[in-house]
Amino acid sequence: MGDPKQTALVTGASSGIGRETTMRLAGKGFQVIAAARRMDRLNELADQHEGITPKQVDLSQPDDTQAFCDYLSKLPQPVSILINNAGFSMRGTLEDVPMEAAKQLFEVNLFALMGVTQACLPGMRSLRKGTIVNLSSIVGKFPFPGSGVYAATKYAVEGITDSLRIDLAPFGIRVVAIRPGAIATEFNEVAAKLTGDLMAKTDADYKPLYQTAGAATGKIFAELSLPGPDLIADLILEAVLSDAPRAVYSAGPLSEEFLTKRANLDDDAFHRFMLDKFDLAGLQA
Ligand SMILES: NC(=O)c1ccc[n+]([C@@H]2O[C@H](COP(=O)([O-])OP(=O)(O)OC[C@H]3O[C@@H](n4cnc5c(N)ncnc54)[C@H](OP(=O)(O)O)[C@@H]3O)[C@@H](O)[C@H]2O)c1
Repeated sequence: MGDPKQTALVTGASSGIGRETTMRLAGKGFQVIAAARRMDRLNELADQHEGITPKQVDLSQPDDTQAFCDYLSKLPQPVSILINNAGFSMRGTLEDVPMEAAKQLFEVNLFALMGVTQACLPGMRSLRKGTIVNLSSIVGKFPFPGSGVYAATKYAVEGITDSLRIDLAPFGIRVVAIRPGAIATEFNEVAAKLTGDLMAKTDADYKPLYQTAGAATGKIFAELSLPGPDLIADLILEAVLSDAPRAVYSAGPLSEEFLTKRANLDDDAFHRFMLDKFDLAGLQA
């Protein structure tokens, strides 16, 4: 069982990977702060499992994030397990993602992660221990067609995670990246809702790209059966409980094929692989 004195924080605990992770950490005896916007979901989770403290925060709002960070800084028992999980996506090539929407994506997926981590670090340093788990994605290493802005947030998460792993090693604080492939959660539903009808709003120039890549993506996904969030929550728990966690854990459909290609091909060869994979090699718009 986890040391009952240890406090864990999971952002994005109201759904999917965060919800499953919260339940697992509580089950291991950690005191878990479960944060998200939807309090009804968090209260339900806290009613069903011992050791969960629901906390409402909208991480897209810097003032709200700051108030949450102030609360974290004043906890009598510092957070020693931090799961930076809250995140969402929006689809579209750069011209189809309004700057305001792009800024919101970066606010939640990157800046809130950085702010919350900053708030937790003094406590972890004073304990000379801690584990930070950052939810990246396979797209933290390469973008799918029409997912560049979301991918950019996860590339940035990878950069922060890699640098923190080095900078915090002297304090005994472990820093882990998680790279899920495609996982069945509310993630796709949220992305579809926020994106809206891309084909209706894009310039005619981009329609062949979306049509071709969309059909190829549909074919790829038709052959997959998507695992639930428990697959990733199990990995997160493995990392938290491990004496020597790996730097990166990845799992889920598409993760092995694409990450292996990304690791083994040079940039030009990987670009050609992606064009072929999404039937874009001969496309002339
Ligand atoms: N599912 C996948 O295929 C997949 C693949 C790779 C990486 N990931 C990453 O895994 C993480 C978890 O995603 P998931 O699949 O579990 O998706 P999900 O089911 O949609 O859960 C996302 C969580 O983030 C929270 N969140 C979103 N915006 C927020 C905001 N403004 N303030 C506070 N919390 C916010 C949501 O809570 P509220 O709406 O209640 O605020 C929810 O609890 C994300 O970082 C995602 O990028 C997912």
